Amino acid sequence: MNILDIESIVKTFGKGSGLITALDGVSLSIEKGSFTTIIGRSGSGKSTLLNIAGGLTAPDKGRVLLDGMDLYRLKDDALSKLRRKKIGIVFQAFNLIPEFTVLENICLPSYLDQSKPDLKFIDEILELIEMLDKKDKYPYELSGGEQQRTALARALSTKPDLLLADEPTGNLDIKSGEQVMDAIYYCYRIFNQTTLLVTHNLEIARQSKRVITLQDGKLVSDSIGEMI
Ligand SMILES: Nc1ncnc2c1ncn2[C@@H]1O[C@H](COP(=O)(O)OP(=O)(O)O)[C@@H](O)[C@H]1O
Ligand SMILES: [Mg+2]
Repeated sequence: MNILDIESIVKTFGKGSGLITALDGVSLSIEKGSFTTIIGRSGSGKSTLLNIAGGLTAPDKGRVLLDGMDLYRLKDDALSKLRRKKIGIVFQAFNLIPEFTVLENICLPSYLDQSKPDLKFIDEILELIEMLDKKDKYPYELSGGEQQRTALARALSTKPDLLLADEPTGNLDIKSGEQVMDAIYYCYRIFNQTTLLVTHNLEIARQSKRVITLQDGKLVSDSIGEMI
């Protein structure tokens, strides 16, 4: 069963002689419970695709179906609500709020949705990503890897059906990057968390089951192998 169907997406930026075609007719489907990596050179359209998949940027043409629901036909507030409920997003920049503790940052999506955070579940996540003892710390007291793991816990805190991660290890040293990837793999295994991950790192791509390559806004390869 597909959780996500991306159909014939076209997205341009700018106009006239400055027109950039970031995505040029991209279609792909993501099966529930799968782990997929998107690779491609800088500027190939990876982030644009992830943002469109996550309900953050409307495409010029094409449709995005999340659990069969046509995202960009929803009204803005319905889309925001659905997005917060079903999608967790991790960016390269951690986007943590400096005045909030780790736990407060993680609970933010629930607060925004006026729902109660599941503190027991959040503790479980924090424990498995080895952040339980850091929950009352502020972002400035954390290493880069710890900040990114906090952002990951925040994305997972609402038990999203789909986790989208855009180069989550991009700004990290090797060890921190490994910790973040271990946490992502762990959630994939434990929660069967459907994961769609953009990376520059071919080693990470090599370990994932399905690898999609973008080039100049087009999907040029889609290969399925074994998860290492
Ligand atoms: N908000 C934007 N405004 C103008 N151009 C953009 C914007 N976002 C992306 N682009 C352009 O679209 C192309 C694809 O960008 P992006 O999706 O960020 O690629 P990637 O993530 O693979 O590096 C690039 O040429 C980029 O400059
Ligand atoms: Mg990018």
